[in-house]
Amino acid sequence: MAHYQGLIHRYRDRLPVSENTPIVSLNEGNTPLIELQRLPRQVGFDGRILVKFEGLNPTGSFKDRGMTMAVTKALEEGSRAIICASTGNTSAAAAAYAARAGMTSFVLIPEGKIALGKLAQAMMHGAVVIQIQGNFDDGMRLVQEISADMPVALVNSVNPYRLQGQKTVAFEVLEALGQAPDYHVLPVGNAGNISAHWMGYCEATGQQTAACGYCNGHCPYHAESLQGVKRPIMLGYQAAGSAPFLRGGPVSSPETVATAIRIGNPMSWSLAWAAVKESAGWFEECTDAEILAAQALLARTEGIFCEPSSATSLAGLIKDVARGKIKAGSTVVATLTGHGLKDPDTAIAQSQRPHIVAAEKGPIAELIGKFL
Ligand code: F0G
Repeated sequence: MAHYQGLIHRYRDRLPVSENTPIVSLNEGNTPLIELQRLPRQVGFDGRILVKFEGLNPTGSFKDRGMTMAVTKALEEGSRAIICASTGNTSAAAAAYAARAGMTSFVLIPEGKIALGKLAQAMMHGAVVIQIQGNFDDGMRLVQEISADMPVALVNSVNPYRLQGQKTVAFEVLEALGQAPDYHVLPVGNAGNISAHWMGYCEATGQQTAACGYCNGHCPYHAESLQGVKRPIMLGYQAAGSAPFLRGGPVSSPETVATAIRIGNPMSWSLAWAAVKESAGWFEECTDAEILAAQALLARTEGIFCEPSSATSLAGLIKDVARGKIKAGSTVVATLTGHGLKDPDTAIAQSQRPHIVAAEKGPIAELIGKFL
């Protein structure tokens, strides 16, 4: 069998590409679905929790799934430059895929509110990095205005090809489990990802969703083997300081330690609501303290390091388990959207400092002795 060549190759029959489409790929997708072994018991959950570790994509987040499609289509349509607003991960992916395609990338990021690893990526891949004195929502408005006037393709998730690529995560979960989980939980920021997950589950199980209208008729896939298979209940978790879905409308000055989801005016508002309503799910919010505690718990009990925004899915899950809203005996999949290495500052700030000792056996042995 040929080696894995990325999700467009893998799912080309379910994506809007033709034989002549010039595929821009970094072999994204095919991420591991890891069963948690110790954490479920620790949080009092009598069921299975599996994490879809999207932090293991080429640029360290799920954005690569959407970006391979968006950049591929931009190239096919003759664009020579792309633009996006970003809290960090989209800009890292846009910069990398633009480099891969030989295109120019422009990324608008909120000044001072982007994790260091993501900024390093955008800079290293040669993007034109534009720090605005505003937040993500300001940037989103600006890139829409600019891309309407200038020859640059917009690659935020308002670009329908982004969600087309991102829906493939649901295909992978279905293949790995042989069926849908009972619940699928994930963090919600601009709300494209929860919409894409739901679109993927609906397509693969041959069922209609309001989100189907979004894929411009590129929704041909109805796998016979999966017809009538159940879909998961979708749970969307937000950071409390940045929770428009809990407030019922846009939030003007969103704040959270989970900077990736520091978004007050999500673009995929109605699609995300459709996902939650059609699946009989709900939205919930988590405090920054709950998010950081979940991130640390996962890192320490399971050896999996995700960024704070990603840990929001676990923080919400832990809360809903405690409130008895998630049924015992069920199987839950949590998408871990980005790698912990993206945000080293936040990780170091909440961890124990290194022990400083002389470079001699005696003091080192003494220190180790205290832990044995
Ligand atoms: N988790 C991470 C790590 C993210 O980077 C994002 C979004 C989300 C969750 C939320 O996903 O927006 O589809 O609801 N990051 C975008 C960015 C906004 O610019 O990188 P969503």
